[in-house]
Amino acid sequence: QPRTLLRGRTLDFNRKPLDENDTEAYNYQADGAILIANGKIEATGPYDQLSARAPDATVIDHRPHLLMPGFIDMHVHFPQVQVIASWGAQLLDWLNTYTFPEETRFAEEAHAAAMATHFCDLLTGHGTTTAVAFGSVHSGSVEALFTEAAKRNMCMISGKVMMDRNAPDGLRDTPQAGYDDSKALIEKWHGVGRAQYAITPRFAITSTPEQLDMAGALVAEHPDCFVQTHLSENHDEIAFTAELYPDAPDYLGVYERYGLLGQKTLLGHAIHLTPREIEVLADTRSKPIFCPTSNLFLGSGLFDDAGLSARGIQNGIATDVGAGTSYSMLQTLNDGYKILQLQNQKLHPLAAFDWITRGNADVLGLSDKIGSLTEGSDADIVVLNARSTHAMDLRMQRAETLSEELFILQILGDDRAVEQTYVAGEAAKTGRCSAGLEDVT
Ligand code: GUN
Ligand code: FE
Repeated sequence: QPRTLLRGRTLDFNRKPLDENDTEAYNYQADGAILIANGKIEATGPYDQLSARAPDATVIDHRPHLLMPGFIDMHVHFPQVQVIASWGAQLLDWLNTYTFPEETRFAEEAHAAAMATHFCDLLTGHGTTTAVAFGSVHSGSVEALFTEAAKRNMCMISGKVMMDRNAPDGLRDTPQAGYDDSKALIEKWHGVGRAQYAITPRFAITSTPEQLDMAGALVAEHPDCFVQTHLSENHDEIAFTAELYPDAPDYLGVYERYGLLGQKTLLGHAIHLTPREIEVLADTRSKPIFCPTSNLFLGSGLFDDAGLSARGIQNGIATDVGAGTSYSMLQTLNDGYKILQLQNQKLHPLAAFDWITRGNADVLGLSDKIGSLTEGSDADIVVLNARSTHAMDLRMQRAETLSEELFILQILGDDRAVEQTYVAGEAAKTGRCSAGLEDVT
């Protein structure tokens, strides 16, 4: 198989940069290249060196654009592709009014399959090459998503939602069925190709204690799987959780009691936390996930990145579509920047791009495979154009540094800034839905 050499300005990260003077934290090549063989990165370095080393390689010239590791979305709901932009409600009403009715449609396999194609197109169209995605309660939804991702060689982490109360007919499992269906999916998909399973109790409100107990049993039996759920997003949600679990010390205490915490546990939102909960997060090395566009859209609150980081708690960042309002990790950083501004916390653009690449990969424990341009990594790459709109082009005329360019991408960029996305070395941005718009009903 012939090798491919992508030419452009390459950028990736070794750790979170403090600012542009922190040059050991990042690698930038003004005339760089990435050599790809068999879906993996064989080398990243100066173009001259790599073209001499691989004279047989097919060169794809992406100059003057930036080549970066593909983005990682740490929390997104696959069955909510037709929920995004639903008006007027905060969390619990939003779930009951818009989200639950929509998720019932994923009982139908043809619908799930069509939406899986759209979802993967949307991710790669926005430069996202790995997602940690909630399914619906139906196994078939996760089956459809893993099947579609496998066709594309895409790294997908997903799980069927476990929910056995406080949800409508057609959207509840039982403790036993939730356990059995999750287990069957784990056995079929976990570690197969680039698929990884996340055990997914939706949140405390939609699970009985019996179900959380069985989710805990699954976690104990499959310690190499991820766990994903929601935590302390909204005040009414927290109050309802306290009513349903009167013996728990707090919201996180529910998950703690059932053995759901640990370094592979991803907790969406984690906004309104008590000092005890913060201590438990740190002790268990569980990972809060910041969902900026969603937290603003549902009026949920302000995520305290600096406060959690100061306690040694490592966080990820994510879209949370359909409560999130964009598939773009650039737009996610845009709102993330503003949420941190409201708390006098500064998000430097180099730290921001580190976060959505190496940082999120590190939270997943997958930084040897994704999130960087290091030799041996999977060739998941995004090509970014900071002059993709009139407004960006005009602003770029006054930009002098890499940090300025990144900040323009972070604030003004979206899918239009994504020139191309490579998944396991293959060009993946189609420019339009490969499922065909007529499939959307
Ligand atoms: N909490 C429980 N389910 C959901 C969901 O689908 N979206 C959000 N944002 N929060 C949740
Ligand atoms: Fe969510």
